This record gives sequence, structure tokens and C-alpha cells, in this order.
Amino acid sequence: MTMSTATLDRETDVAVADEAAFATMLGRLNKLSVEKHFDAYVDIAWDDPDLALTPGDPRLHLPPSDPIAATDWYQALRPEERSVVAAYRFAACMRIGWHFENILQRGLLTHAFRSPNGASEFRYVQHEIIEESQHTLMFQEFVDRTGLPVRGMARTWRFLAETFVFRFAKLDPALFFIFVLGGEDPADHLQRSMLKDGLDHPLVERIMRIHVTEEARHLSFARHYLKREVPKAGRVRRRLLSISAPLVMGLMARMMLEPPSDLRRHVGLPRSVAKGAFRTPEGRQLRKDSIAKTRKLCRELGLIDRLSTPIWRALGVWDDAPTVA
Ligand SMILES: [Fe+2]
Ligand SMILES: [Fe+2]
Repeated sequence: MTMSTATLDRETDVAVADEAAFATMLGRLNKLSVEKHFDAYVDIAWDDPDLALTPGDPRLHLPPSDPIAATDWYQALRPEERSVVAAYRFAACMRIGWHFENILQRGLLTHAFRSPNGASEFRYVQHEIIEESQHTLMFQEFVDRTGLPVRGMARTWRFLAETFVFRFAKLDPALFFIFVLGGEDPADHLQRSMLKDGLDHPLVERIMRIHVTEEARHLSFARHYLKREVPKAGRVRRRLLSISAPLVMGLMARMMLEPPSDLRRHVGLPRSVAKGAFRTPEGRQLRKDSIAKTRKLCRELGLIDRLSTPIWRALGVWDDAPTVA
């Protein structure tokens, strides 16, 4: 029997009270990783002419859930120009996505390297590394086929990630898994919204569908890991987590959702338009909604209090009327 993505989502509500329940959850994720996994070069028909990637192809356009699509700037473009913007936007998301996944894999490898014999999560962590590796192959193949000079993560982000994230993986795995959710939650939310809108280009659609299917397991693991670990943390560590969580979520949501500077330069998108698109009520709501599941988890774990709420607000990721209750 296979488990649907929706079922995995509902798992976030399952209390992981002890190691046995955690092991049961891992057993389900391990089984799914074996039964329902994808290979970048087996499960995508890259050379099917229908899947060809040509900037200018009218099947490439920004879906309505992307705040850039609603701007006057985008609306005023000719269809061929919109297509180039969309191709760059998808390619940029994919390259930033695999840069994040590369850091995630290295953190998971660090976690696995330090696992003792018999560690319950060892096998699943390795499954996840393999899946992220396939995602990286699929994303970069897409980027190369567009022929567009997308940069990926900004240099400052790469420096910060390479300097701090692996240390978190060693010193405080809970903080590392908050970072993991900071990347995976907004990307997953955006991809699900785009799939719901409908993507006309079959290659973009296929890649996003594969990714959303496998990410459901990764998100489930990170949430359950935090449910198991955070209750064990002492007062100082909890305080550190409660302050770091909104900072990580606020900054990562921006990185995963907003158009990077190389995209703006390549397609002539004014910075004011790009920034303005995320200051509209819809743009602000997208940012808040994109991390809603993690915010809810942090609340359940007691990581949101009088001291940390202003940080969530300041970073634009607090919601007084959340859609995920
Ligand atoms: Fe991934
Ligand atoms: Fe993932």
C-alpha cells in the first residue's frame, strides 16, 4: 500500500511522544522511499520534443500565484517576453533550490556520519540524501536546457550557509532541521500553489510534481525530528531556538520566494517592481502562508512566546489570522 502526499501532510499532527512512535514513522517513510522514488534520467523524458525548453515558448508563463505575474510590468510584456521571464524564474528557482539541497545534503551527511550503530534515523537520512541528489540532477539538467545564465544562491547566502549550517548540524541538529524547513517549506508551498494554478509546460509540471511528492517525506521527517528533539532541550537551548526560528524562516522565505538580482538584471525587472510585488497584500500573504506549517509547529513546540513573536512580526512571517490553524 502506498501513502499519498496528503496523508503525509496529515502526519504533522501525529504526536511523536516517544522513540517507538518515531521509529514507526521512520518505517513508513523508509517504505515509501523504496516504493515511490524517482530517477532524474529514467522518470523524465528529457528528449521528448513536447518537453523541449525554448525561451519564447508561450507554454512558459508565470502562474497567478507568483506575485510578479500580477505586476503592471509583467502584464505589459509581449507573450515571448513573458516566456523568457518565466523560463528564467523557473531556472533560478531550480538552481537556488539545488544550492540549498547541496547544503542540506552535506548537513545530513554530517548527521549520518555521527550516528551510532543502530541509530533509528540513519537509513531514512541516507534515503533523503539520495533523493536530494536526484533533485539536484533534475534541476541542473533543466537549467542547462534553458541555456540561461542563472546564478543560484547569492554569494552572501552561500558564504553564510557554508560557514554556519554545518556547525548547526554538529552542535544543534534541531537548529539545522529548522534551517531545513526554512528552505523546504516555502519552496514546497510555492510549487504546490503553481501546480494548483496549472502549469502549461509539461517539463516544468513533471519536475514540480516529482519534487512535491518526495518533499512531503522530507518535510515530514524534519517536523517529526523537531517534535522528538525540542522537548528534550534545556531552557537556554530552547530560548536560542525560539529566537533563531523566526530569523531563519523570515530570511529563507525571502530567498526561496523573491526574484534574485541576476533574474532582475537579465530580464530588466526593476528592483522596485520586484520588491513592490511582495509588499502587496497578496505578496505579504504568500510569504506568511509559505511557512505557516513551520510556524504552527513552532507554536506546538512552545517556541513562540512574548519575546519571539515580535521577531516573527518584524520578519514579515507572522499571521494574526493564519489559514493553517
Ligand atoms: Fe528536493
Ligand atoms: Fe527535500
